[in-house]
Amino acid sequence: MKTLPALFATFVLAAALPACAGGDPASPATASAQSHQGHAAQSPAPATLPQLLVHKSPSCGCCVHWVEHMREAGFTVEVRDVDNVQAVKDRVGVPTGKASCHTAEVGGYFIEGHVPAADVKRLLAEAPEARGLTVPGMPAGSPGMELPDGRVQPYAVELVANDGSTTEFSRHGE
Ligand code: CU
Ligand code: CU
Repeated sequence: MKTLPALFATFVLAAALPACAGGDPASPATASAQSHQGHAAQSPAPATLPQLLVHKSPSCGCCVHWVEHMREAGFTVEVRDVDNVQAVKDRVGVPTGKASCHTAEVGGYFIEGHVPAADVKRLLAEAPEARGLTVPGMPAGSPGMELPDGRVQPYAVELVANDGSTTEFSRHGE
């Protein structure tokens, strides 16, 4: 008997507020994830954004803020709290010294740390041969690490090639 209201709520959320569905409503989130590819009319991004899977420590607060940033940008995000995020970094090939807090996976790439959603969309659109993107460390002012006064510590997003080497993908805060 909660099927109809749940469906209706999902429809309203999907139509009006795809980014703000909240943190843990299991069934609406799942439903909108499944129907996500059908209606991306209002998204400024490519018509179909693949789902983003985020691995993070249960106690990470800035990770949650980055997830909110990605949802606001139109991504459907699945969050997995894991005790050993390093194991994920090792599996997907985040190079030593290029790590941050959370590790996400999208469209066959990894997204390490506080990478802006616009860079993730560009990566998906350009589809280079690479492992993924990283913002090493946690620069103040990057998405999810915003400062009260809006300052951004200059930082680079790096593209990690299949051989583990990195090149600058974009620059922010200057
Ligand atoms: Cu962080
Ligand atoms: Cu994080």
